[in-house]
Amino acid sequence: MNLYAVILAAGQGKRMRSLKPKVLHEVLGKPMIQYVIESVKRLKPKKLVIVVGKGAEEVKSQIKDKSVFFVRQRKLLGTGNALAEAKRASKDMKNSTILVLNGDSPLITSKTLKEFLKKHKRNKNGLSFLSFNDDASGYGRVLRNRQGSVTGIVEDRHATASEKRNIKELNGGIYAMEFKITNYLSKLEKHGSSGEYYVTDLVGIAFKNGKKVEAYNCPSKEVRGINTRAELHQAIESLNRKNISGWMQRGITFIDPSASIVHSSVSIGKDTVIYPNTYLEGNTSIGKNCIIYPGARICDSIVENGVSIKDSTLIENSKVRSGSIIGPFAHLRPHSIVGRNVRIGNFVEIKKSSIGDGTKASHLTYLGDAVIGKNVNIGAGTTTCNYDGKRKHTTKINSGVFVGSNSQFIAPVKIGRDAYVAAGATVTRDVPAGALAISRPRQKNIEDWTKKTQLKVKKRKK
Ligand code: UD1
Ligand code: MG
Repeated sequence: MNLYAVILAAGQGKRMRSLKPKVLHEVLGKPMIQYVIESVKRLKPKKLVIVVGKGAEEVKSQIKDKSVFFVRQRKLLGTGNALAEAKRASKDMKNSTILVLNGDSPLITSKTLKEFLKKHKRNKNGLSFLSFNDDASGYGRVLRNRQGSVTGIVEDRHATASEKRNIKELNGGIYAMEFKITNYLSKLEKHGSSGEYYVTDLVGIAFKNGKKVEAYNCPSKEVRGINTRAELHQAIESLNRKNISGWMQRGITFIDPSASIVHSSVSIGKDTVIYPNTYLEGNTSIGKNCIIYPGARICDSIVENGVSIKDSTLIENSKVRSGSIIGPFAHLRPHSIVGRNVRIGNFVEIKKSSIGDGTKASHLTYLGDAVIGKNVNIGAGTTTCNYDGKRKHTTKINSGVFVGSNSQFIAPVKIGRDAYVAAGATVTRDVPAGALAISRPRQKNIEDWTKKTQLKVKKRKK
């Protein structure tokens, strides 16, 4: 099919009451317009044009897709004017079937669009659009005559009380039209109350001119445009519910599906159990047989099989290999690689470090820019002092090392294999393999100190 796609995304989005352009508001980690782009691209249009206006530069900078063309709507004079601007800037639109979509309906699927276009073509319509049945306000209402043919769309604000009461078929804001229909764009009239030209008026004009016009019903959740924060929430909830019910069907347990957020780009292995108040975001993959406890947020990370992520843990852009236990209250900052069967415990922060298999850092520790071998024990309160105020330095701790509690490593520094670092050490120099590094003053005990000091106090009081 000679398909041309236009996404209308220039509007002010006043009802969002936001400084950010409406189409950039996120639905599960992605700007809403990105979903519309992805669904449309699956139809392989010969060109995809996005009409931008409010916050045009911001919108353009957020859309990374190089195959998209942008057209500027100079004055925000409504959806009809937006399409007219797209036509003016796109000479190659001629003789195409044009798919026009509102940029604020992120849940539209390519499946629905494909079926819609198929019907439009099969019935040789001049103009078709998607409608849905609902008892909602703010949408255009579909006018039909006695024979049931579509004769026009009346916007909610212009509808009479009886139209509002009786018409429950609403406009979904997605249109397919043959190129010749766009000639009617010049016939659109400005609506006095809003000062706008409505794309929806094309329907009535086409009908009056004897063109074949049809509305095809589709699921309401796919075309309920987002105009307010409440509608944004509904869209997020609806997509999240769909994602999670898909994962439950594939063998994943959610203790409370309404209390977990799972982005569409996440993957999860069988028999993993996910507790409430958990967030799996971005390009995250979770293996089989994992347990994700409450309060965990995992972003852009790989978690292999059989891992436990305990309560209130944040993992960002990192990798956790199989069998490890992370948390509670742990933070893996970007570029951390945690090996197999590792234990990262309470209040441990790891940044840009690799932790070898079987290593333990169970309590109150900071490991930054560190390379840590296998089966190392990192005692409570260990700190890598990786930053000298200007640059970051590496701490290398080889396999089999035992680090006593409350030790500090003044990087750059290397600890050889199987070495011991005594508790409370401030390590400023490399430690050879197998050595004991101890760096604290020798302990001195003063005999009977308590008794003597108490005696002194008593004397003073007298
Ligand atoms: C529109 C329809 C309504 C339909 C509803 C479905 C019109 C007049 N009304 O109403 O019948 O039921 O969508 O969700 O079309 N835009 C521009 N330039 C403008 C104005 C808007 O590009 O000057 C863009 C917006 O960014 C948005 C889309 O067009 O992505 C729709 O605009 P919006 O203001 O949301 O229209 P609705 O009032 O929702
Ligand atoms: Mg809208």
